[in-house]
Amino acid sequence: MDLFSVDEKLCKKDGICAAECPLSIIDFQDKENVPRPFAHSESLCINCGHCVSVCPYGALTHKNLTPQDCYPVDKELMLGVKQSEHFLRYRRSIRNYKSKAVEKTKIEKLIHIASHAPSGHNTQPVHWQVINGKEKVTELSSHVIDWMKDVLKTHPDLAKMMHLDMITAAWEMGFDVVSRKAPALILVNGGIKDPFADSACKIAITYLDISAPSLGLGSCWNGYFNKAAMSWEPLQKALGLPEGITNYGTMMLGYPKFQYHRMPNRNTPRVTWTD
Ligand SMILES: Cc1cc2nc3c(=O)[nH]c(=O)nc-3n(C[C@H](O)[C@H](O)[C@H](O)COP(=O)(O)O)c2cc1C
Repeated sequence: MDLFSVDEKLCKKDGICAAECPLSIIDFQDKENVPRPFAHSESLCINCGHCVSVCPYGALTHKNLTPQDCYPVDKELMLGVKQSEHFLRYRRSIRNYKSKAVEKTKIEKLIHIASHAPSGHNTQPVHWQVINGKEKVTELSSHVIDWMKDVLKTHPDLAKMMHLDMITAAWEMGFDVVSRKAPALILVNGGIKDPFADSACKIAITYLDISAPSLGLGSCWNGYFNKAAMSWEPLQKALGLPEGITNYGTMMLGYPKFQYHRMPNRNTPRVTWTD
């Protein structure tokens, strides 16, 4: 099968698919014939699905995606600007969790949503890792404390900036300021040398972060865990990170103990306009 086929009966020859293809591999020059793949299009295609999803008539079928495979756009579910602002501003970093475990189905749903985040060249390089269970989270966080103790010795200035003395002291007193006794951690891992992995992982975990409240869940970036996972071998071993793979982001996840009633303001954005 060619890279894609176009149903001649459905195609209106409007050229939208060719105009939208990010790699410009759809040949629609003579405008008399339906669009067809340029030579070598197969090796260039990034499988983003734009050609299939943008056609108003469902005329184009990609070898890896049919119009029927796609999730339909439901105008009734679109957010207006008010809902959009509310949705994004409602999200908070949640640091107090109920002891209730997070259902696997909910984590799977969040990962499913977040896996639709953009990635450079649509490479989708994110490897998800789920640590589900408070005991396991605490056990792994103890490695983060060991890393902090090491940083306190080897890089005292950096340690001071990151308040590592206070965090380790709190740990000794039974307070987990690293993972906040979260019932789950969600990690996004990717190739150390992969030029797309860092941004893709961070965007994907952000998608998960903003989607969590829709399932009654709350989340919070675990920057300390991430920093330790990037460099501290005992934690890397405990996580089972393969050679060449690193952690680009870690998120705590659980049921929020408290509800928020207001949305705080942020600084006025610093913007440089060029008109
Ligand atoms: C990259 C990154 C790392 C963070 N690391 C931590 C962390 O280790 N522990 C924590 O409690 N919060 C962490 N946060 C959460 C921030 O403190 C929080 O986003 C900020 O205070 C704003 O609050 P809000 O998220 O509720 O709007 C992190 C946030 C980001 C973006």
